Amino acid sequence: MHLRGRLVFEPPPRASEPSSPAGAGAAPLLDSGPVAGLDALLRDWDGEELVVRFDPPSGAFMLVAVHSTALGPAMGGTRMKPYPRLEDAIADALLLARAMSLKQAVARLPFGGGKAVLAVPELPERGSSSWRGLFRRYGDLVEALGGTYVTAADMNTGSAELDVVAERTDHVLGRSPGRGGAGDPGPATAVGVFHAIRAACERAFGAADVAGRRALVQGVGSVGRRLVELLHEAGAEVLVADVDPDRTAAVGALAKPVAAEEVVGTPCDVFAPCATGGVLAEDTIGRLACRVVAGAANNQLATPEDARRLQEAGIVYAPDFVANAGGVIHLAGREVLGWDEAEVHARLAGIERTLAEVFAIADRERITTAEAAERLALERIAAAR
Ligand SMILES: NC(=O)c1ccc[n+]([C@@H]2O[C@H](COP(=O)([O-])OP(=O)(O)OC[C@H]3O[C@@H](n4cnc5c(N)ncnc54)[C@H](O)[C@@H]3O)[C@@H](O)[C@H]2O)c1
Repeated sequence: MHLRGRLVFEPPPRASEPSSPAGAGAAPLLDSGPVAGLDALLRDWDGEELVVRFDPPSGAFMLVAVHSTALGPAMGGTRMKPYPRLEDAIADALLLARAMSLKQAVARLPFGGGKAVLAVPELPERGSSSWRGLFRRYGDLVEALGGTYVTAADMNTGSAELDVVAERTDHVLGRSPGRGGAGDPGPATAVGVFHAIRAACERAFGAADVAGRRALVQGVGSVGRRLVELLHEAGAEVLVADVDPDRTAAVGALAKPVAAEEVVGTPCDVFAPCATGGVLAEDTIGRLACRVVAGAANNQLATPEDARRLQEAGIVYAPDFVANAGGVIHLAGREVLGWDEAEVHARLAGIERTLAEVFAIADRERITTAEAAERLALERIAAAR
């Protein structure tokens, strides 16, 4: 049965789990009033269930949003961050889980979409006992879901956290290679984004080759750093911007730095958002000086209408959940589907063909590229049901 917006409150963690000194007596993370708009958030969401567990030792809310299991277990990363209000954390989990369903479906992976959020009062110190305790108890929660949800990394979580989660559950992808996992998916995501850029350049300029093109990469973290290398190797002129000057400096001679606040408005052929979501908004789109937007960041459009604004501005937009599927292709391929490195690379290159298909649908149906990609994904999910 497809359950729409089911809200499940989980029991608190096992009494045997020791409370961390840092978490004991922690101030409540979020204001303790009623969660504003929760009924509307869930009613408007087309997903299956949201599981909520409060974790007294840390003061964190653990949220697991299972958007769809039609194509397989709901797979998606765990985001850890402090949120001003619980409803912001819930809204994030619901939106991100839906995008994961679309991503898995478009990438033709045998997984559905889900996402988890650990809404913490403050980020725990990696390696500390409170950090370890939090991720063990979170592993218990994932285990309690019996495989409905398979977790991976996201903001502020990586292989180190997943190694701890894996002490309590097998429903985890992206442990460190030393623990039998496929490790950081960032470099594979970068390869996929590179192919998305090629597809978008083909549409914008009539040639996929990026040699001689000017590409601006916003955010040079796990994905952006590798993307810079790939673009440089392919002969592009690369610009980079990061709020962390050490990260910008680390790319060295491969790219020219641009001030983080000057990204919008800097002339370039290709803009690759690889930092945060919401960068494509009414006030920024009018100032973009590029012909192509293709990057790794999730939820790049501030609102669905922004896809239309990009189209009207003559900018080719590679929908984020198509362009950034390389990470899940790598994780699923290496850890579940038995693909070797060559097969994974062939699938990453396939993002170029998938985007060509998306662009063809957009032209045929006279809709935006974002609408076309969503239609492709939703049709596959509906067919599986
Ligand atoms: N890692 C993956 O495999 C993967 C897969 C799919 C989507 N994504 C998304 O892609 C984006 C990048 O992922 P990542 O793993 O490289 O993250 P990361 O945390 O390793 O790197 C992000 C970088 O962006 C910088 N940054 C943050 N805000 C910025 C701003 N306003 N302007 C410029 N720089 C800013 C940070 O300093 C950091 O260097 C994220 O939005 C992530 O959700 C990542």
